[in-house]
Amino acid sequence: MIQKTLVLIKPDAVKRALVGDCIKRFENAGLKIIGMKMKWVNKDFARKHYSAHIEKPFFKSLSEYITLGPVVAIVLEGIESIELVRKIVGHTEPKQAHPGTIRGDYAHHTIAYTDKTGKSIMNLIHASGTAEEAEQEIKLWFTKEEIHDYKRSDHDFVL
Ligand code: GTP
Ligand code: MG
Repeated sequence: MIQKTLVLIKPDAVKRALVGDCIKRFENAGLKIIGMKMKWVNKDFARKHYSAHIEKPFFKSLSEYITLGPVVAIVLEGIESIELVRKIVGHTEPKQAHPGTIRGDYAHHTIAYTDKTGKSIMNLIHASGTAEEAEQEIKLWFTKEEIHDYKRSDHDFVL
């Protein structure tokens, strides 16, 4: 099934100049960019984006993390793109993320260590976890006019 999914290149990845590298990995896999913008969100917006985590002990640090600087928000389209993007991104905890994934290649933090410091785990990327999450998140970050339905290629193996 062709799906749309939301990716955020988080403030730590933007600061470390990893935007191009991240986008390249998604494009290399055949995923199609159908929406993209840079946005510096405030705490109110962070509560909306991470509403599922508001009650979690790490929410305050997560909210600080995502508002540290601008993020690059991208809507990607592709076959089973939600699962594919999560595979390219790697495990939430960088320590467990495999080499070859974005989090595995560019971070090594553990949850235990970061929890002790009162900081969020900095893991470079956000990617929608489920179809419901993707739908809500795309609606939150993009207007209909900002999503572009264009044909990229005549090859059916690249959407
Ligand atoms: P996102 O793509 O950002 O949603 O990450 P995820 O789906 O892999 O993880 P999840 O939605 O469970 O958590 C959201 C974010 O909160 C993570 O990406 C981390 O930045 C942070 N986080 C998650 N769990 C912990 C935790 O146990 N401790 C700390 N300090 N931060 C956490
Ligand atoms: Mg998540």
